[in-house]
Amino acid sequence: MAKGESPVARKYHIETFGCQMNYHDTERMAGLLEESGYAPAASPADADVVVINTCSVREKAEDKLYHRLDELDFHARETGRRPLVAVTGCVAQQEGEKLATLGRPVDVIVGTQSVKRLPALIEQARVGLTPTNNQQPATSNPLIDIDLHQDVSFPLGVARHADPVRAWVTIIEGCNDYCSYCVVPYTRGHERMRRAADILADVRHAVDSGRVEIQLLGQIVNHYVAPDDPACDFAALLEKVAAVPGVQRIRFASPHPRHTSERIIAAVRDIPQVCKHVHLPVQSGSTRILSAMRRRHTREQYLDLVNRLREAIPNIALSTDMIVGFPGETREDFEQTLSLLEAVRYHSIFSFKYSVRPNTLASKRMPDDVPEAEKTTRIMELQAAQRDIQLALLQSAVGSVEEVLADSVSRRRASEVSGRTSGNTIVNFPGGPELIGRLLPVRVTDAGPHSLRGELLAAAG
Ligand code: SAH
Ligand code: SF4
Ligand code: F3S
Repeated sequence: MAKGESPVARKYHIETFGCQMNYHDTERMAGLLEESGYAPAASPADADVVVINTCSVREKAEDKLYHRLDELDFHARETGRRPLVAVTGCVAQQEGEKLATLGRPVDVIVGTQSVKRLPALIEQARVGLTPTNNQQPATSNPLIDIDLHQDVSFPLGVARHADPVRAWVTIIEGCNDYCSYCVVPYTRGHERMRRAADILADVRHAVDSGRVEIQLLGQIVNHYVAPDDPACDFAALLEKVAAVPGVQRIRFASPHPRHTSERIIAAVRDIPQVCKHVHLPVQSGSTRILSAMRRRHTREQYLDLVNRLREAIPNIALSTDMIVGFPGETREDFEQTLSLLEAVRYHSIFSFKYSVRPNTLASKRMPDDVPEAEKTTRIMELQAAQRDIQLALLQSAVGSVEEVLADSVSRRRASEVSGRTSGNTIVNFPGGPELIGRLLPVRVTDAGPHSLRGELLAAAG
């Protein structure tokens, strides 16, 4: 159906799990569905189509899909009204037609490289519905596209940026690193670089639609080399993005420690729009475990890189990802992770208990031998240590003046706005919604465990 043909547009609802890459795919799917005549639903109960965009990085993330399918099934039985259900993302890619054998309602299965096919498959599934009972499932055989299309092009301007201030722009899809714990190379496929011309077109479009911060996405962003311009590596891409008029801030996730060259450090230091924050996943502080993880860097190389980053950019904020309870991780290995945490003093961390994932090298060769209770003890210890570090770092910011990009009305107080510093710390300060989208000087007055409070210095002109 073309836009405007029907007085009442069919409604879609998308639920997203996982990483920024998935959230960005949701923006793309939302845009595609709206182009096909769908409108956002107020709630899942109100939707004609429910899309569940899934993550498979840990077992718990995957379980969320099954839980949601059960809920949708229950709701359909209660109300006699069942939306069309599409499963997309990493679990769709990984499980494919197996999802049809669960006895739960699934009409469409779309893998990570088939996002563009979503509206067509939904339409095809809808056509199978009988006109007298059009809320019932057409078929127990879902329509499936989990092919590896390899195509990384995407129509310009279709993605519906959910955030009023910042826009995600994918630069690399997939990953070839095969860290031994990680499912991503299997769910997202081989590493594919997007053309620099396409990336810059997306950036220009984002700026035209009012976004001032660009977040470049990829599993290893700093592996980037433009297929349409071999001289354009990641550092050069940062320069090109910064040169687009209207781009006020640039962030990126995630760089890999082993590809963080002096050129990239210099680019972060020298390009004013590039935020002085680097998310540098380390995973473990033990070289022995890093080697079993196939991370291809040692503890010493990582700490050396942190030193070089800090020498070049003294105020740089660092964050990381850490896994506890990887196969064979002893108490001593874990203590090395703790000591690395203390040595680096991250502004924030994401920490995870190791979870066995299908197809991975670790799942085949390394028994999941750290007991669940021990994983819990270790992650709690790690998080407690991080809380102290984080609070001390936040407290040390009190009195300083930070440049804050206001992005929303504060969740706690309607008379305040919320924003982020260049180092990615949240700051709340009195002010109205007219400040959203502006870079403002804010004096930090108080520190909490996760965020700062402050006051606006100059009446912004
Ligand atoms: N490409 C990014 C990470 C993507 S996955 C990088 O290389 O840094 C995001 C994070 O999930 C990882 O950094 C890791 O900390 C965590 N993770 C991945 N697989 C996991 C597993 N099997 N169990 C627990 N945590 C995992
Ligand atoms: Fe997974 Fe490693 Fe690739 Fe990151 S670099 S996506 S952790 S395989
Ligand atoms: Fe999850 Fe897939 Fe991202 S597995 S973390 S949604 S790449």
